[in-house]
Amino acid sequence: MSAAGDDRQRLLELREQIAEHNRRYYVEDAPTASDAQYDRLMAALLAIEAAHPDWVTPESPSQRVGAAPLDAFGSVRHAVRMLSLANAFEAADIEAFDERVAGTLREAGLLPQGVVDYVAEYKFDGIAVSLRYEGGRLVLAATRGDGQVGEDITANVRTLRSVPLRLRGDEAPAVLEVRGEVLMTRADFDRMNEAQAAHGGKTFVNPRNAAAGSLRQLDPRVTATRPLRFFAYGWGQIRDEAGRDILPRARHGDMLDWLGALGLPVSPGHRLCQGSAGLLAFYADVGAARPSLSYDIDGVVYKVDDLKSQDVLGFVARAPRFAIAHKFPAQEETTLLEDIEVQVGRTGALTPVGRLRPVFVGGVTVTNATLHNEDEIRRKDVRIGDTVVVRRAGDVIPEIVGPVTALRTGREIEFDMRARYPVCPVCGSAVERPEGEAVTRCTAGLFCPAQLKQTLWHAASRKALDIEGLGDKLIEQLVDGGRVRTLADLYGLTALELSTYPRMGSKSAANLIEAIDQSRRPPLSRLLYALGVRHVGETTARDLARHFGSIDAVMAASEDELLAVPDVGPVVAASIRRFFSEVHNREVVAALRKAGVEPVAEAVPAGEKPLAGKTLVLTGTLPSLSRDEATRMVLAAGGKVSGSVSRKTAWVVAGEEAGSKLAKAAELGVPVLDEAGLRALLAPASAP
Ligand code: IVH
Repeated sequence: MSAAGDDRQRLLELREQIAEHNRRYYVEDAPTASDAQYDRLMAALLAIEAAHPDWVTPESPSQRVGAAPLDAFGSVRHAVRMLSLANAFEAADIEAFDERVAGTLREAGLLPQGVVDYVAEYKFDGIAVSLRYEGGRLVLAATRGDGQVGEDITANVRTLRSVPLRLRGDEAPAVLEVRGEVLMTRADFDRMNEAQAAHGGKTFVNPRNAAAGSLRQLDPRVTATRPLRFFAYGWGQIRDEAGRDILPRARHGDMLDWLGALGLPVSPGHRLCQGSAGLLAFYADVGAARPSLSYDIDGVVYKVDDLKSQDVLGFVARAPRFAIAHKFPAQEETTLLEDIEVQVGRTGALTPVGRLRPVFVGGVTVTNATLHNEDEIRRKDVRIGDTVVVRRAGDVIPEIVGPVTALRTGREIEFDMRARYPVCPVCGSAVERPEGEAVTRCTAGLFCPAQLKQTLWHAASRKALDIEGLGDKLIEQLVDGGRVRTLADLYGLTALELSTYPRMGSKSAANLIEAIDQSRRPPLSRLLYALGVRHVGETTARDLARHFGSIDAVMAASEDELLAVPDVGPVVAASIRRFFSEVHNREVVAALRKAGVEPVAEAVPAGEKPLAGKTLVLTGTLPSLSRDEATRMVLAAGGKVSGSVSRKTAWVVAGEEAGSKLAKAAELGVPVLDEAGLRALLAPASAP
C-alpha cells in the first residue's frame, strides 16, 4: 500500500478508536482508556488530518474543537413536534393520573393485567434538544424553541463528546431524531466556574444556566471548551429507506435500550414501575438519592411503557396524556434581598446574613441566608435590593447563589461592613478585621452578650457539657436579664428561680438543675471543648486532655509545650495561650471550680493504651504536674507506678530534687525522662 493509503487506513482506525472511547466513557460510563491515551490518539488523528486537509469530514472526532463562529442561529422546523409535559406535585395527582390512564386503557381493552406498566425516568434540569441522524450521521441539532421551530445548534452540539457523530451497528434507520437533554454535572460546573473566575471570565449561577449559555454560543469553539453532556430520553421522526415512519420496538423501555445500542447515551436511572404505587416508590427513592446525583434533576417523568397504549391515550394541547412530570420541591428560587445584616458568633465573628423576602424553596420557607463574609459578598457581587437566586438542596442550609443582574434597576446598594458596622451591633465594642483575614470580629470577648449566648449554647451542647434543657430561648433570657454573665453563673441557678421564667414549669426547672448538676464532673476534654477556645474542637480538646492531664497544666503550658501535642500547630497553640492569658477567662475557670466543677482525667480507650504493661517510677518534683496527677495519667495510659526502681522499671520520671532513685536508674540502665518526656510518651494515645 502507498504511504497515503497507510495514512488513510490509520485515519479510519483512529476515528473508530476515538469514537469507541467516547462511547465507553459517556454511554457505558466505563472508560477503558486514560486521558493521556485518549489525547495521544487525538494528536495522531490531528497530525494525519493536517497532512491531508481534504480528508477532514464533519464526522471526524477532530471536529469537536468547534467550527467557525456564526452571526446568528438558523431556525429549524422539527419534523415531529417537541412536546412538553404536564406537571404534578402531589401523590394524589399521580394517583389520579394513573386512574385516568388505566381507565382509558381498560376501555380500549389494552389492560389485561389491570395495572399499567410505566417507565419512570429522571427529569433532567437541562436544555431539551433534538438530534437528527440521516444514514447514521449526525446532520442536525436543534433546540426545542416553541416546540415547532427551534434554533440550529448543530455546530455546537458536534463539540459534545457524548453525542456520537455516527451511529453504531447496522440497525441505524435512514432517519432518526433523538430527543434528550443537554446538561452539565455539578462538579464540571464548579470546575468551569472556578476556571472562568480565575481568568476574569463570565461565571454562571447554576449548571442549567451554564448549559444553556454554553449551548447558545455563536462561537462553537467556546462551546467546545464547556463540559456539556447529553442524555437521550425519547425520539421524534424515525424512517426507513423507503421514507416510511417506523417504530423499531413496541415499548418505551425497549426503545431506550435500542437507542443505547446505537451508541447514544441513554437516560440513566430509569426503572420499570407498576401502577401508582410503583411510581410513588420510584419518586421516594430518587428524591432520597437526589442530593448525591452528580447532576441536577427537578423531578421524575412517568411514561406509559406500551407504545400502542401511548397512541390510544394521545395528547391534550401540547402535552401527552401518556406521560407526566412529578416535580420535586424546587431547590432554587429567586427572591428579593431586602437587606444584609450581621450576626455575632461565638468567636465574635460578624457574619453577614441576607434578609430575604420569604420564599418557598427546597420544601421550606426561607427568610435568611448566610453570606459568610465580606469577600464572599463581593465575589458574588450581591447587593441590597438585588433579586437573588436562593438555593436549598436537601437538608443543606439555604444559600444565596448570586444576583440576577438582568433585573437590576441601578438602585441596589453595595454592602460596606466598615461603614455599616463601625462597632459591634450587639455590645458597641470595637471591631477589627486583621490583615489578610476575611472576617471582621467584635473584640469584646465574653463581655459581648452575643458571644456569651453562643458560648453558653455551645457549652451546653451534647459534645461539651451536655446540659439538656438549656435552650437558646432560656439562654437569651438569662443573659439579657443579667442573671448569667459567665459560664460559671449557670451553676448558681436554682430550680425555684428558673421556674419563674416563661415556659418553665417546676418540673422542667428541676430537670434542668439536675442536668446542670450532672455536668459538674465532666471529662477534662469536654470541659476544654466547652470553654470555646478558638480552634479547639473536640479532637484537639481530647489531645490536650490526654497530653496534659489537668486543666491547670493546660492553662500553665507555654506555646512550646502546647506545640508538643500532636496536631497542635502554631495557630492553635497561640490561640490557647491567648485564651488562658486573659484574666477574664482564668476567672471563669476559677469560678467554675468554686462552683464545684471538677474535670476528671480521662481513660484512654483499651487498645490505645501506650503504657500497657509498663511500670514507671516517679521521683522529685515535676514542673507542672503534681505526683497525683502524674500517677493518674500513667494509670489512664494503662501503666503502673511503683515506688522503687528495678530491672523491670520501664522508665524513671524525674523532676527537681530527685535523689537516690536517679542513681539507681543509672546503675541499672533504666531510661530517665523529665515531664516533657512523660507527656511525649503519653502522646501516641492522643492520635485520633
Ligand atoms: S419527555 C413527550 N423525559 O422536561 C414528552 N422530558 O416539560 C416530552 N425533560 O422539554 C418530554 N427530562 O426538556 C422527557 N426524562 C425526560 C425529561 C424531560 C427532562 C424536560 C424536557 C422537556 C420538559 C417537559
